Amino acid sequence: MQKFDPKIEKALEKCRELDAAARLHGKKDEQFWIVSDEVGRLLNAKAKEIKARYILEIGTSIGYSTMFFAEAVAPEKGKVYTIESNRERATIAREHIEASGLAPYIHLTRNHAPEHIPFQDPDTGNSLEGKIDILFLDCIKMYYLRCFEAAEPLLRPGSLVIADNILSHPEPLADFVKKIQSDPSIESEIIDIGTGLLIAKMP
Ligand SMILES: C[S@@+](CC[C@H](N)C(=O)[O-])C[C@H]1O[C@@H](n2cnc3c(N)ncnc32)[C@H](O)[C@@H]1O
Repeated sequence: MQKFDPKIEKALEKCRELDAAARLHGKKDEQFWIVSDEVGRLLNAKAKEIKARYILEIGTSIGYSTMFFAEAVAPEKGKVYTIESNRERATIAREHIEASGLAPYIHLTRNHAPEHIPFQDPDTGNSLEGKIDILFLDCIKMYYLRCFEAAEPLLRPGSLVIADNILSHPEPLADFVKKIQSDPSIESEIIDIGTGLLIAKMP
């Protein structure tokens, strides 16, 4: 298993500890629902495989998957645009991101998707249309389809759409999965890892 910079590994470990503690003691709405370490490393590997520079993530939680993506885009001087609606989780995510040293490669918006998906880089004002290499969907299930449709103009040809919870939540995600699988121009597969990942390659 590839180890990252110790500051990054430490920030990732902090996320796992918080998540485990919340699972033990918290109520359902106090959980953080982060991906597994195995999924995080797969996301990192996928981003490196396609030399991703720009990633859009819907559902930051406490910044765990965000940091896996940011570690992958850092050598390309890329950026992860991530959106989190929950104020407390966004605050914790910012702390982890700062501690990891990956802050230059992450822009976190504390707001709701799809309404607040950034169409421009918030720092430079440059348009993101056709620039995004990976869209990662990991928010409230009934919003996957709406977020995908809203973000579609941002995706470059050949980009990847990766969606979590495909096997754990088949019913609420049925409309999104149908949309992807019924389009003959989109190649896709569902991987039985974690809660189930759909990986689709855009035409
Ligand atoms: C499964 S967690 C994300 C986990 C994170 N991707 C990780 O693996 O480290 C889902 C998060 O999405 C946030 N969320 C849900 N609906 C959202 C929306 N419409 N816009 C932005 N964030 C949303 C929730 O508050 C929650 O923190």
